[in-house]
Amino acid sequence: MPAQGQLAGRVALVTGASRGIGRAIAETFAREGARVVICGRRQEALEEVARGNDALIPIACHVGRAADIQALIERTEREAGAIDIVVNNAATNIQQGPCLDIEEGQFDKMVSVNLKSALRVIGRVAPKMRSRGRGSIINIASVAGLKPQFESLLYSMTKAALIMMTRSYAQELGPSGVRVNAIAPGLIETALSEFFWKHPDRSREFLGRQPIKHLGQPQEIADVALLLASDQSSYLTGQVIVVDGGLLLC
Ligand SMILES: NC(=O)c1ccc[n+]([C@@H]2O[C@H](COP(=O)([O-])OP(=O)(O)OC[C@H]3O[C@@H](n4cnc5c(N)ncnc54)[C@H](OP(=O)(O)O)[C@@H]3O)[C@@H](O)[C@H]2O)c1
Repeated sequence: MPAQGQLAGRVALVTGASRGIGRAIAETFAREGARVVICGRRQEALEEVARGNDALIPIACHVGRAADIQALIERTEREAGAIDIVVNNAATNIQQGPCLDIEEGQFDKMVSVNLKSALRVIGRVAPKMRSRGRGSIINIASVAGLKPQFESLLYSMTKAALIMMTRSYAQELGPSGVRVNAIAPGLIETALSEFFWKHPDRSREFLGRQPIKHLGQPQEIADVALLLASDQSSYLTGQVIVVDGGLLLC
């Protein structure tokens, strides 16, 4: 039976999809009829996610390595077909502390994993999207890219740059039918952010300030990613959708 749903027949690539927000996005796209290549550094973790879901194709890839990205895209095209949707989601935060303590090696690693990865993926996928006249690229940024996160210069800086990368690509690729948008999540309950929510006192203090009184869930980001991936957002490009429970209002 042919796939049904908002993304029926589409091929998507989601980086950082072995857990958290990326996994929720990949599973949502698959539910809506897409074939979805999921990437992360560990093949076993990806296979665990894909078990029992034929629409998910697990391919290990370290997004900080150019050769891995090249191989990921070649395999995706070979095994799933031309890529219609890309979600640049994989990211890390290896440096928490004062700006004056930052080392150059940390700077290079954060730029490579959080930012250059998106440049490399888009550089390889967008020309083909452009020649086919359609595509949706979604970059997962952060509210930290709009307002500095305390003692997180490198994370905030890479997310701010990703937002400007989003707008620049959107301007250039729009005439060819390729849309490029970003999502800026606030606090979402995942492994990456557990410092901010795992301790009950810190979580309570945080929710005390935030207008919406629950911790954000990966599915609440996936639902917005689905809108950006689908034709429901055909007039939407170059935007940063803030999904933060109203946090930036405070
Ligand atoms: N959680 C939040 O509160 C929050 C807020 C704002 C923005 N975000 C953004 O949302 C995105 C997803 O974050 P998350 O909270 O879902 O994080 P997470 O639960 O830690 O998941 C991160 C994913 O990225 C993969 N990954 C990490 N480094 C990688 C690398 N070098 N190459 C390939 N894959 C890599 C991880 O798999 P492996 O470890 O197996 O490689 C995992 O699948 C990130 O861009 C993050 O900055 C999160």
